[in-house]
Amino acid sequence: MGTVMQGSRILLIIGGGIAAYKSLTLIRDLKREGFRVVPVLTRAAEEFVTPLSVAALAGEDVHRYLFDLTREAQMGHIQLSRDADLVVVAPATADLMAKMAGGHANDLASTLLMATDKQVLIAPAMNVRMWNHPATQRNLALLRSDGIQRVGPEEGDMACGEFGPGRMAEPEHILAAIRLVLGRSRSAPLRLGPEVAARPLIGKHVVVTSGPTIEPIDPVRYISNHSSGAQGTAIAEALRDLGAKVSFVTGPATVPPPDGVEVIRVQTADEMRAAVEAALPADAAVMAAAVADWKVANRTEHKMKKDKGGMPVLEFAENPDILAWVSQLKARRPKLVVGFAAETDDVIANATAKRLRKRVDWIVANDVSTGTGTFGGADNTVSLILDSGVESWPRLGKAEVARRLANRIAEAL
Ligand code: PMT
Repeated sequence: MGTVMQGSRILLIIGGGIAAYKSLTLIRDLKREGFRVVPVLTRAAEEFVTPLSVAALAGEDVHRYLFDLTREAQMGHIQLSRDADLVVVAPATADLMAKMAGGHANDLASTLLMATDKQVLIAPAMNVRMWNHPATQRNLALLRSDGIQRVGPEEGDMACGEFGPGRMAEPEHILAAIRLVLGRSRSAPLRLGPEVAARPLIGKHVVVTSGPTIEPIDPVRYISNHSSGAQGTAIAEALRDLGAKVSFVTGPATVPPPDGVEVIRVQTADEMRAAVEAALPADAAVMAAAVADWKVANRTEHKMKKDKGGMPVLEFAENPDILAWVSQLKARRPKLVVGFAAETDDVIANATAKRLRKRVDWIVANDVSTGTGTFGGADNTVSLILDSGVESWPRLGKAEVARRLANRIAEAL
């Protein structure tokens, strides 16, 4: 779905509210994803963000005036609103919503909204009392019956010092809603707001593995690896934030597990496999754990003694490959299975081979060679390997990698 949307043109109408600053982040995120953003500012929006900063981020002219004759000669407002693939209003203030519901056309934004033949997605933002006001709720009902799509508002502390619904949806939630709306036809509207659009994974169950496993040698010694659990934890959080029920199966990681998910703590690969099996069925599985490939076959029940003389000889046995096992399940296979590949050489080639060998839908390849800081670090440079090809992402914080991956999972589900 991502490649289809790349190049889609978003007419972004920025209304006059404090949340307008978040629209700058939205523009940046849309551009990063390959969308074209054509910005429109209302008069009031200019009190909150400058046309210059919007133009710089969008890389496009900012449209501000209905009676801009030069522009009218080059491109009428009808064309501006119809060239778009989607019209997004963020923030949609109480006033803009009222104008839309009443069919007003007395400035550029309201005229474009009247003239468009494309789907419209609004991200309302206002004080909680304004949101709850019967007039706003009446307008909302009208907009809904007109087929207008909505994302948010979200609940939380507001700039005015009050608490409740009214905060504009976070840019990543608006982005997820844009993808959802563009992926659907007008005859199948999303209709409802925060529950569906901002949290597209509500009702979905995802199993996430994370952290290292440890394989005992004797009661005091073990073999393990450097995974901190940071990447897996961030993925579980991002999926949770999109509304998924998450079963988080974690080895002994140094990063604490997220709140609001089911945490299943394990030590060994055998335990992790059993925990994943118990967590099924699931809609998706994301295997970010660094599972030890081998366990010690001749582990002892008592501490190995140095004074016995000679060197201990360890024998190894292969651990279950949890990812390959999940991918090759028949009836209980999650619809989407995502693996990771931790590589030190020929990252893409090795990860691609791993994807095919383990029959995984997607593999997230990351370079873990010395000096990258991938293990235990804050950032990660990954490539997403899909059936359709390879997408290489820039170096990002692990939370951002997780957020992007969660959004892609939401699209796929
Ligand atoms: O935890 P951090 O410090 O944040 O570091 C993140 C990470 C580097 C651990 C993470 O991004 C990552 O790459 N995880 C996968 C590590 C790994 O074991 O890669 P692999 O190439 O050996 O395994 C490939 C895939 O098979 C992985 O999805 C792994 O979970 C899975 N696997 C491997 C072996 C096994 N016995 N069972 C498995 O399920």
